[in-house]
Amino acid sequence: RCPKGTAEMEHDTLVYVGKEDDIKKSQRITTKVNGREVVVFYHEGKFYAMDARCYHAGGPLHLGDIEDINGQSCIICPWHQYKITLETGEGLYQAINPLEPSPTPRWLSKGVKQRIHKVTVDNGNIYVSPPDLSVSFDSDYYADKYKSNGDFAVGK
Ligand code: FES
Repeated sequence: RCPKGTAEMEHDTLVYVGKEDDIKKSQRITTKVNGREVVVFYHEGKFYAMDARCYHAGGPLHLGDIEDINGQSCIICPWHQYKITLETGEGLYQAINPLEPSPTPRWLSKGVKQRIHKVTVDNGNIYVSPPDLSVSFDSDYYADKYKSNGDFAVGK
């Protein structure tokens, strides 16, 4: 028995993104989920989806590079180089504790800033679940702001 009995409902509302093989080849694809711009990445064998507009100032994350930071895959926003983990949407920053004998920069988390979307792979097709808007994230502001603009410059 599925918890909360929502599985069936979810299945009805999943948003089709594209073919698994195509996205594996292109490594990323942009789509609209309930009107918001979402980017789906295929990186090192896994699919990830997040709001495409950076939580900082709305930068186009679908045009950013992916880097490994402390074992976490992060998208680097092309506008001001904010680092966001693909898995959790956490904003990472580097901090130094000046009280340490030999201060070394460390990566710390600002918490989850970017809304992550659930990806479902089914029968060679990729779907994204609609967002649970009862929880809010900083990136919602820009997701809403760009919602009215029907065009999405599909980036690679
Ligand atoms: Fe992404 Fe500023 S808009 S880092």
